[in-house]
Amino acid sequence: MERLQKILAGAGVASRRKCEELILSGQVQVNGETVTTLGAKADPGTDVITVRGKRIQGERKLYLMLNKPKGVITSAKDPQGRKIVSDFLPGIKERVYPVGRLDYDTEGLLLLTNDGEFANLLTHPSHHVPKTYLATVKGVPHGSALEKLQKGIKLEDGMTAPAEVEYHDVDPDKKQATISITIYEGRNRQVRRMFDAISHPVVRLKRIKFGDLNLQQLQRGKYRHLTEQEIRDLLAAAAKTHKIQK
Ligand code: URA
Repeated sequence: MERLQKILAGAGVASRRKCEELILSGQVQVNGETVTTLGAKADPGTDVITVRGKRIQGERKLYLMLNKPKGVITSAKDPQGRKIVSDFLPGIKERVYPVGRLDYDTEGLLLLTNDGEFANLLTHPSHHVPKTYLATVKGVPHGSALEKLQKGIKLEDGMTAPAEVEYHDVDPDKKQATISITIYEGRNRQVRRMFDAISHPVVRLKRIKFGDLNLQQLQRGKYRHLTEQEIRDLLAAAAKTHKIQK
């Protein structure tokens, strides 16, 4: 539920102030009833809202995937003037929000949407949608160290849930290795902290998968709209409860 004047302004009827005037002057109806109070709320998804008898169109829902470069922050604004994700969304006038975060130095698959319910479903801690990263780390961790990550490792905010961990690439002179890691949680800087805990700090981190969705050919710094099928698959992944044992 949202305030009526916000819904009207968001649908491009007029400015918020002008929309308030429309309400006060009795020109707005919700489900056939004229509403003249400014505190009134409605659900733009289900209520029929009309202005002088004409039904308004809600803001179009957007579901985007961006291949975020490193050195970009996922917030809407940055007081320090660094690059923000919306700099990489030419042609998108609507305000979209990241579904979960990627650190400033992390690159890869970032979902963005203006559908709050979709974002909540995918990031809710109880839904455990898998996310896969390629982590390039200093040195080559032993199998026993990776096993610790697989089983769960103690971090300052508690044990991590079991993860899937595999060698992806090992540098021939053994100075670094790239490990593929799938986690089912979304704690702050989780992958970096997990590798810190086995003394193999991350030097490069890229998210390559969110649920079953992967970056495929999407170039760094580019975005695309998700297909209907991809949106449905993500919602199905969120609905499926993955068992995690702690
Ligand atoms: N884990 C991290 O450490 N950083 C990210 O950006 C995402 C997961």
